[in-house]
Amino acid sequence: MTIAALSAIPASAGELSVWPASTTRLPHGDLAVGGVSLTEIADRFDTPAYVLDEGEVRRRCRTYRDAFPEAEVLYAAKAFLSRAMVRWVEEEGLGLDVCSAGELELAVTAGFAPERIVLHGNAKSPHDLEAALRLGVGRIVIDGPSEIARIAAAVGPDGHQKVMVRVVPGVSAGGHDKIRTGTEDQKFGLALTDGSAQDAIARILGQRQLELTGLHCHIGSQVTDVKPYLVALRRMIGLMACIRDTHGAVLPELDMGGGHGVAYRPGEPALDVTALARGLRAELSESCAAAGLAVPRLVIEPGRAVVGPAGVALYRVLAVKHTGEKVFVAVDGGMSDNPRPALYGVRYAPRLVGRAPAAGSRTATVVGRHCEAGDVLATDVELPADIHPGDLLAVPVAGAYQLSMASGYNMVGRPPVIAVLEGTSRVLVRRETLEDFRSRDVGS
Ligand code: LLP
Repeated sequence: MTIAALSAIPASAGELSVWPASTTRLPHGDLAVGGVSLTEIADRFDTPAYVLDEGEVRRRCRTYRDAFPEAEVLYAAKAFLSRAMVRWVEEEGLGLDVCSAGELELAVTAGFAPERIVLHGNAKSPHDLEAALRLGVGRIVIDGPSEIARIAAAVGPDGHQKVMVRVVPGVSAGGHDKIRTGTEDQKFGLALTDGSAQDAIARILGQRQLELTGLHCHIGSQVTDVKPYLVALRRMIGLMACIRDTHGAVLPELDMGGGHGVAYRPGEPALDVTALARGLRAELSESCAAAGLAVPRLVIEPGRAVVGPAGVALYRVLAVKHTGEKVFVAVDGGMSDNPRPALYGVRYAPRLVGRAPAAGSRTATVVGRHCEAGDVLATDVELPADIHPGDLLAVPVAGAYQLSMASGYNMVGRPPVIAVLEGTSRVLVRRETLEDFRSRDVGS
């Protein structure tokens, strides 16, 4: 029986609110994403596997284009990158933010126009800079004083490179200490308060081959409130007015970074992209009017909010263990494909798919298969009391910072990425095999 023939119930509300909009319920407890049954995906491609809903990625790109028609929207490639992803983002009219020669080369060799790419990094390697200049990257974001002379020298006396400067606006925001980047106590950017941003800007303006197009800031990640962005924007406009007063330079761009938060579990807050657009637009025109400054072109760099909710991780249960009061449900993946719970203590909402539970629910902790007690995927979640080996577990909002941060721990191998769209599925990135590990191991 085809999925189209089933009386599928749209699942956009309630417990499936954080799933891709295309998610539908199928008989026997199965779910379809992008018109494809998750049970079928698990059978066909094996587990663990990551399912990526192409329609959801494209829909999210369009939400940004619609909310920010006047701005430049750069997709932050660090959240997840593959050649298909490069193409989708390009077709939807977004630019790209990359932070290594690897991300840059993959994007350019997949056909992305280098002038629409921005290169970041607090410690750009010689290889990063060489690739950026060779491929003709649009802008390089200067993150520290030592980069100014380095980039100028690499560009050469007759060369030309557009740059921005990453400024620390002194605003604390973000879902966890490790992903807050708006204050001076972390490694990124140049501070406003001690004058290091101002000094760097003066030096860049003195370099003939560097064209300073604007300022950049990124206050943090998994931010769910609009207000910190507005505070940061006001400070950035203040600095732009100072630059005009001191140097007579009017910078045409202001990049407010990314960090837009999403809900990982039903009921959690997410950043409202439309409210952010409205707020930034109002604050921008007000601050610029007050400073007598021409309104710069806004740039934003969302990563998670574009791809996170479009991904679903699929695992097979390998073991269920009752230890004292606790129930541990162990699956065939873990911290090697999703280090986020171990790193940031984040919570997910896994659910059983592929059969109707025969019992009520009970609290369990979903753990991975790695040799480490911290290998936890989801703490204290409600799962059917009859959960058993062979069951399928699906974890929504798995598209960002999971596979892009995946490791080779225990030589388990990284899962494949399966794209789904309108009832069809295809492999975007194949499973990592023992042969991959073996072929890199060239010593004896
Ligand atoms: N722009 C810059 C300069 C960034 O550093 C980042 C993220 C972004 C944009 C995109 O931020 P997003 O919209 O995706 O939040 N591994 C962590 C997140 C680290 C974010 C690093 N920078 C996590 O899994 O939560």
